[in-house]
Amino acid sequence: MAKSKRVGIMTGGGDCPGLNAAIRAMAKTAFKMDYEVIGILNGWKGFIDDENKMLDSCNTSGIIDRGGTILCTSRFSPFQIEGGPQLIFDAFQKLGLEALVVLGGEGTLSVANRLYKMGLPVVGIPKTIDNDVKETDYAIGFQTAVQIATEALDRLRSTAESHHRVMLLEVMGRNTGWIATYAGMANGADAILIPEIPLNTERIEELCRMLKLRNQRGATSSIIVVAEGTQIEGKTVGRRSFDISKNEMTFGFGGIGNVLGEIIGEKTGMETRVSSLDYMQRGGTPVAYDRSLATAFGVKAAELVRDKRYGEMTALKRNTITSVALEKVADGIKTVNLNVYRIAEIFFG
Ligand code: F6P
Repeated sequence: MAKSKRVGIMTGGGDCPGLNAAIRAMAKTAFKMDYEVIGILNGWKGFIDDENKMLDSCNTSGIIDRGGTILCTSRFSPFQIEGGPQLIFDAFQKLGLEALVVLGGEGTLSVANRLYKMGLPVVGIPKTIDNDVKETDYAIGFQTAVQIATEALDRLRSTAESHHRVMLLEVMGRNTGWIATYAGMANGADAILIPEIPLNTERIEELCRMLKLRNQRGATSSIIVVAEGTQIEGKTVGRRSFDISKNEMTFGFGGIGNVLGEIIGEKTGMETRVSSLDYMQRGGTPVAYDRSLATAFGVKAAELVRDKRYGEMTALKRNTITSVALEKVADGIKTVNLNVYRIAEIFFG
């Protein structure tokens, strides 16, 4: 017999490890509450284009350890097109949904908040390797990215030591340095460069002096991690690539590692090599922490739907699963806690 209550679930923005664990947890909890669960495919774009599938205990099983999202995703926003929000409301009604659970980063959750303000019953779940969503200690995907970046830094140390080189790793994070800070701290990196502490000529000189000093002291290799959004003299390094949801070339981060690597090599006279983790840190198996966090967030999201607590997002605060108003999360980012950075900094040089 068809169930009378229906809830939708959707992933938007970049994929990350742990999304499937959250989809599984939310859906299976909702089944127990007697809901039908519709998976919206390809983010907001698929919602408008009527791309969706019924979730059941079969297609939500065996996915807790799978990277990416079984619902697929896009960077499309309904506010990009004329009448887009109304198309979302129409699709919502057509599917007979009671509420929509949105897994997203700052961009997707900001869209969710705007739609909520217009009357759409939404519940959010924070996900992004960048960990820049406000009002939650961690977002789904961050711990996996940190693990991958740490392992990469550990591997780079072999070559750094064998060849007496400076090895520089560029990691993602958009305008924040969460991945760089945590991975750099876990690796014991000799320098961590983050957008929260922009680079200028003076700081670069200081960095090079430190590297030369290490060399003189007999530490002939050094490890540096740089976050992609770190600016030099107020300028961001980026590259253009085609964005299908906007149908145009758009700017994305990437390349600061190479720029900095050249400067360091030239200024220090030390062999400097650069690697970039790029999308490698965003894919593959989620670590146990992300699976557990995603599971807890998925269960909480189903409970918020059941209790009609719309306009809220699941959150982790001081090791407690809770919820916060989406409004507090929208249109802003959470920058690195500099107390944590200062701990990592003790081991620089
Ligand atoms: O927000 C997640 C993230 O991986 C960022 O760290 C990175 O700058 C960006 O997405 C890359 O976006 P895209 O997948 O659109 O290239």
